[in-house]
Amino acid sequence: MALRDALRRQFCSGLQAMRTPYHGKGKVLLEEHLPSGDAMQVFKHWFEEVKGNPSVIEPNAMCLATVNKEGFPSCRMVLCKGYSPDGFKFFTHYTSRKGQDLEANDNAAATFYWAAISRSVRIEGKVEKLPMREAEEYFRQRPHSSQIGALLSDQSKPVAGREALVRIEKELSGKYGTVVPKPEKWGGYVLKPTTIEFWQGQTDRIHDRIQFIKSSSQQQQPDNKILFQGENGWMYQRLAP
Ligand SMILES: Cc1cc2nc3c(=O)[nH]c(=O)nc-3n(C[C@H](O)[C@H](O)[C@H](O)COP(=O)(O)O)c2cc1C
Repeated sequence: MALRDALRRQFCSGLQAMRTPYHGKGKVLLEEHLPSGDAMQVFKHWFEEVKGNPSVIEPNAMCLATVNKEGFPSCRMVLCKGYSPDGFKFFTHYTSRKGQDLEANDNAAATFYWAAISRSVRIEGKVEKLPMREAEEYFRQRPHSSQIGALLSDQSKPVAGREALVRIEKELSGKYGTVVPKPEKWGGYVLKPTTIEFWQGQTDRIHDRIQFIKSSSQQQQPDNKILFQGENGWMYQRLAP
């Protein structure tokens, strides 16, 4: 028992003392700092800022959460490949685990985390499939090796080993020259947001959280004390950290 406790202590040693400083009191996020009352415009502003920051690797990486038909959640990273007032686009295999989840339940959530600037954006909404034409266009822009990678993958299914994948890669590379066909079940989704939260970390842990809610998705009305009217169908409120 004592040995097990000692091992357990050793196993998690140091983590409790890990503490990253975020923003100081001089850089809080106030409502008046919001560049717009439209959540997508705020996202655009934040994304443009982070995109130009060399300390942020893959600023378009987001953790996507889905729920299967039994109500069990799972999440994984995907790359956001475009955003517009409609929502956030990503591409994947429709037959993957996430694809099957989304087929059964179109509710999804995604979180961007930009550690270097202590900011995060949290999105919830429903997904819709993008037109195949759009998937085709994007597939054509991908590097050849990524096209082959997508074609060889029956995503999320067990495989006999890496060698099995490399063998198929060789076969497909030999079969297709420069034009690799898009796998039939590979395509895009758009996550259409009903809420978007903008989080800015503060060293004192009194983090700033401003949540936008699409008016049409809620019965709530702005009272201009807690919940404020935004723009283009958005309302916003501050959440406790
Ligand atoms: C930074 C990063 C970006 C990724 N981008 C994608 C992506 O855009 N599309 C995708 O299908 N998988 C992407 N993946 C792989 C997924 O995280 C995941 O392994 C895969 O999609 C299978 O997930 P599923 O079994 O839940 O469907 C990415 C992984 C990482 C770490």
